[in-house]
Amino acid sequence: MTEKTILRALKGEILPAPPIWMMRQAGRYLPEYRATRAQAGDFLTLCYTPDLAAEVTLQPIRRFGFDAAILFADILLLPQALGADLWFTAGEGPRLSTIATLRDVDGLKPVAAIHETLAPVYETVRILARELPAETTLIGFAGAPWTVATYMIAGRGTPDQAPAHALKAADRTTFQALIDRITEGTIEYLSMQVQAGAEVVKLFDSWAGSLRGQDFQDFAVEPARRIIAALKARHPGLPVIAFPREGGAGYIGFARATGADCVALDNSVTPEWGAANVQTDGCVQGNLDPAHMVTGGVALDGAVRHVVRAFSKGPHIFNLGHGITPDADPENVARMIAVVRGG
Ligand code: CP3
Repeated sequence: MTEKTILRALKGEILPAPPIWMMRQAGRYLPEYRATRAQAGDFLTLCYTPDLAAEVTLQPIRRFGFDAAILFADILLLPQALGADLWFTAGEGPRLSTIATLRDVDGLKPVAAIHETLAPVYETVRILARELPAETTLIGFAGAPWTVATYMIAGRGTPDQAPAHALKAADRTTFQALIDRITEGTIEYLSMQVQAGAEVVKLFDSWAGSLRGQDFQDFAVEPARRIIAALKARHPGLPVIAFPREGGAGYIGFARATGADCVALDNSVTPEWGAANVQTDGCVQGNLDPAHMVTGGVALDGAVRHVVRAFSKGPHIFNLGHGITPDADPENVARMIAVVRGG
């Protein structure tokens, strides 16, 4: 059997058409997702019910034939496994208990205890490893420590991550202890996903763009480097995708500095810039503006061809620059895939 296309691109191969998957490909824009979510009752129950989480992971594969499936879970399950309270309020996004002091960090559960909570996620991975088509790559994931810390400190999503920046400035010891605890938890969490059958893992650093100067080195680059080094020591050859979203100039050299096999680009950079500055180090993933999944039409076709052409001289996995939004039209997703594959 020939190797899966995503794995070939991650090794640096330039394919006739880039393989494709999509961030948040299992999500509210799909009626079948909304139906399964309603069956589960709420989002966290969906995440922790292996049959249903596997079902929603498979839905976009059945409907569109993406080249990769991403495990259905959430980056905030790890903080919950570390002992944070976590709940989702309709229309408002996630809420968590907050971390403010070193005692709060010390009060978190030891890293070895996370598997108790996360066992259903590993079961979802095992189901998927059995049920996915032979050509589809299974991607596991976790949040990167900085992004996870921003939610644990603020207790919610914030536009500017101000509470996390404030703790970092006021009490570096507590902040670093939290980053270290999340880093160690992430290594164990992703390692178990790999043992259960994930073939690639991705680190989502959604708020990397608010880290400036040395902070970007210390809290985006360094934790990713530690996580990737530990995972590759345990699982030789494991490909890792890193997504320091809105990293800007920080994207340059990120793969070399962290050991990532692929850097995912958001759509704040042009594909030409990404090709010239990031793809020079290896595979890149990205970076179509997710708004095209809402608007479609000839503009969609043109934008897809632009991304494909700009990255055609190096290894590339086609994706959006960020997650697809609930108001997207599934027809536009099908059209994007057809154009990427040469339609
Ligand atoms: O991409 C996929 O299809 C896999 C599953 C996945 C989800 N979240 C499912 C989800 C992945 C990889 C994530 C990552 C995630 N979660 C990130 C990093 C990526 C990014 O988007 O920047 C972050 C920051 C979170 C935290 C989170 N989870 C937020 C802020 C929200 C609420 C915002 C929203 O879109 O409603 C979630 C909820 C969430 N995670 C949903 C899904 C499908 C929507 C929940 C629902 O069904 O109501």
